[in-house]
Amino acid sequence: MRLYDIIAKKRDKKELSKEEIEFFIEKYTNGEVPDYQASALLMAIYLNGFTKEETANLTMAMVNSGDVVDLSMIEGVKLDKHSTGGVGDKTSLILVPMVAAAGGKVAKLSGRGLGHTGGTLDKLESIPGFNISVEEDKFIDMVKNAGLVIAGQTQNLVPADKKIYALRDVTATVDSIPLIAASIMSKKIASGSDAIVLDVKYGEGAFMKTAEDAEKLATAMVNIGKSVGRNTSAAITLNGEPLGYAIGNALELKEVIEVLKGEGPEDLRELCLQLGAQMLRLGNIETDVEKGRAKLEAILKDGSALAKLRELVVLQGGDPKVIDNSELFTISPLTHEVKATKEGYVYELNAEGVGVSSLLTGAGRHTKDDALDYGAGIILKKKMGDYVKVGDVLATLYSSDEAKFEKAEEELQKAYSIQSQKPEKSPIIHKIIR
Ligand code: URA
Repeated sequence: MRLYDIIAKKRDKKELSKEEIEFFIEKYTNGEVPDYQASALLMAIYLNGFTKEETANLTMAMVNSGDVVDLSMIEGVKLDKHSTGGVGDKTSLILVPMVAAAGGKVAKLSGRGLGHTGGTLDKLESIPGFNISVEEDKFIDMVKNAGLVIAGQTQNLVPADKKIYALRDVTATVDSIPLIAASIMSKKIASGSDAIVLDVKYGEGAFMKTAEDAEKLATAMVNIGKSVGRNTSAAITLNGEPLGYAIGNALELKEVIEVLKGEGPEDLRELCLQLGAQMLRLGNIETDVEKGRAKLEAILKDGSALAKLRELVVLQGGDPKVIDNSELFTISPLTHEVKATKEGYVYELNAEGVGVSSLLTGAGRHTKDDALDYGAGIILKKKMGDYVKVGDVLATLYSSDEAKFEKAEEELQKAYSIQSQKPEKSPIIHKIIR
């Protein structure tokens, strides 16, 4: 088999066989296929597409390029969730304990933040002592006995994706539906989950700009799940303004605790209840989503979801005092108020702009080796639909470095669009694909 022939076949809009796709993935991962040939094939896929079968074969070839987590010794359906990214998206930190408290088994491998988006691991590390490296035995044990774990990925999980993603990034082939679908699903499948709930975002700042494209991506991922025996469900959600009011690691954790106490911002709570009800359905814990939602609401109210988060923190070496009293989180000492310069309704609040502003306070990383200011970030005071007068506080910035406020404010001011017209608010979930 030669890669040249595989490129020519896809260039001519023909369907690639499983063996041809496996050949490409294996030879590219081990360095036998050069970047220029891989680039040509990726561009042919970008332009001519992949069938359902080709996409499923690509996904499984990528899964098999590295380590696969084996959770088969744990009884029951192992659940996972994935979001295609969002600013202020702390849903994993709510969903994992909430679903575990309802009897689900959630083994979550998460990542760090880079650029304007935050990462679940960084947020957890704002808890003193919390350890994101969990040995395999302990990982299994936690899922079996406590129903939850949140840990960092091993180095060798889907190495093919690391290489291909880096190449796509510089060859204008990132926004291809089959390539995105295979990239995301390969990592979920290699993480050992049996059932996956996806939150596919659309809008400004998301990979998919329209609900229609997000639906196509969601359908491609649900189809992959179906082809490889992983029950998958996807919610199409608007990536409008940030979720909740807090952006930044410790600040977001405090908001997570509010939601787990049955309080907290409505948009965040609603999204978590709907995604959580889908997880309970896929986990065969409650197949009726309305009943599932009611069960989760009860779990938030009676404190058992918060108790699960506390259990997770203790098991992973963290100090539970901050969970018992979130005022004990270390928040950066300096604050700066960002005020409205115009009267009207907040018509738009660009999530990416808010993310960049938070990054500039010290809450995020420009490069992967940057140190974080865990207590830095933003508390929004005004969101879409709120009416503001000149001088009203739009948001408070937190940082340990006064010099960071100027640029962070500049970005945040740009993210707010204030107009005389009231914006129409869309529901948080556009559609669920099952
Ligand atoms: N996220 C991924 O993990 N992969 C993609 O290709 C796009 C988004």
